[in-house]
Amino acid sequence: MISKLFSGIIIMLVALSELNAFAGVPPALSEAATAGIRLFTGQKPFENGGAACISCHSVNSIKAVGGSLGPNLTAVYKQLGKNGLNIVLKSIPFPTMKPIYQNRPITEKEKTGLISFLRYSSKPEINRNKGQDLFMYAAAVFAILIIFMSIIWRNRLSGVRRTLIKKA
Ligand code: HEC
Repeated sequence: MISKLFSGIIIMLVALSELNAFAGVPPALSEAATAGIRLFTGQKPFENGGAACISCHSVNSIKAVGGSLGPNLTAVYKQLGKNGLNIVLKSIPFPTMKPIYQNRPITEKEKTGLISFLRYSSKPEINRNKGQDLFMYAAAVFAILIIFMSIIWRNRLSGVRRTLIKKA
């Protein structure tokens, strides 16, 4: 009985730690990505005076809603990759962005920051629905509890049955 209880507790602890890994702690922001956020949102002005990206773009990892002239850039790192973004931010092939950055080029360092920020923002664990996570977490804890109780309960039943059999 004690060993069954003990193994039940172990199972529960392992399951809980698995669950924690599943819930995923958001990865830490690198220094470059932090600089990228500040540039993107305009907290830090571009060296050559270009406009903050947020005036035309949103990114879901930032709570503030950006302008809607340009597309949402949450998944753009997945679509274009590091090289694609490097090319876009260097040659600025879009007619809307070109007049703003053509004569106010984004520096290499700024580009690196923006790209690592966009890479960070594209990670699925950043964009998961927190409410849904909480629900899943609660459901999983409940399921584990049921399994745990059934382990103890099964023992108790068999214990009762054993004494009944003995009596018979
Ligand atoms: C004046 C508004 C404006 C500003 C400011 C601006 N953009 Fe854009 N951007 C656009 C528009 C509009 C498009 C879409 C062009 C198209 O699809 O023809 C675009 C497209 C892009 C794309 C390509 C998206 C895709 O899905 O292919 C990237 C990447 C991008 N912008 C990054 C940035 C970054 C980084 C900044 C800040 C340095 C920035 N933009 C600033 C308007 C802007």
